[in-house]
Amino acid sequence: MPEMDETGTKQFYEDVPQRSEQFFLKGATAYDWGMQHRLAQIFRPESGRTVMLAIDHGYFQGPTSGLERIDLRIRPLMPHADALMLTRGILRTIVSPAIQQGFVLRASGGPSILKELSNEHVALDVDDAVRLGASAMAVQVFVGGEFETQSVHNMTQLVDEGYRRGIPVLGVTAVGKELVRDSRYLGLATRMCAELGAQVVKTYYCEGFERVTAGCPVPIVMAGGKKLPELEALEMAYGAIQGGALGVDMGRNIFQSEAPIAMLTAVRKVVHEGYTPAQALDVFQTLRHEAAPAAPALVAAGA
Ligand code: R5P
Repeated sequence: MPEMDETGTKQFYEDVPQRSEQFFLKGATAYDWGMQHRLAQIFRPESGRTVMLAIDHGYFQGPTSGLERIDLRIRPLMPHADALMLTRGILRTIVSPAIQQGFVLRASGGPSILKELSNEHVALDVDDAVRLGASAMAVQVFVGGEFETQSVHNMTQLVDEGYRRGIPVLGVTAVGKELVRDSRYLGLATRMCAELGAQVVKTYYCEGFERVTAGCPVPIVMAGGKKLPELEALEMAYGAIQGGALGVDMGRNIFQSEAPIAMLTAVRKVVHEGYTPAQALDVFQTLRHEAAPAAPALVAAGA
């Protein structure tokens, strides 16, 4: 039995009021502790920003170029991202439970690229997100799309269930081919996601992006989109961050690069350290030869 602690040396600092720390993330001060904790697994408290690696493309388009073998080509990239965006199928089959990164689970789905993409439903029981320890759940919202209302309802359903369990929702503004990605449209779509409860919104970069971020009361992360030359992708990320984005969620511009780790590192410099595109390109050029060996070498080495 422990001895009675009566040495008289206790310090309660009675004259020092306890200070409450303000949570660092935009719009997030009123959330419950668990939700804030999960958001801090995505956004780095030191910079308030995030570099997410999106590898969830297979949920509607199958083995996209660069994602044919996630175990060989993507696993080496994971430690270089702040958070991953992926499906539970890939998480359970390929990703180590010992990863240190946060992860955002794809929670909507249904149609393939062969069908009407906006016809999604919720495709994840929130209990499974809890079981897996997800940092957040991601859902597409097709504002202006054929199944707009259904996709908004998918999001609000996940927001309600997420609040019950302390799991934030990332609303992804999905833009159909017929819609223009301008600040007016993206301002509408991002604001709708935030007003209806999404704690984070992912959207595309556009002219006048600062109006989109200023009008959205929660953090915006920039979506990557199709593969661009490295400098252009870095310019886009730079423009988004300078325009008020609190991070990026990029896929093809990372894993389809000839040197994905170098590209991810260069993007990190832009997001977390404010490097200009030219400075970040220098980082990319320097590191590109040190990137992970090609898959055949990994196989030969028995990895
Ligand atoms: C986009 O909405 C989907 O989640 C994609 O699978 C992915 O996030 C897109 O990434 P990227 O356009 O940067 O390749």
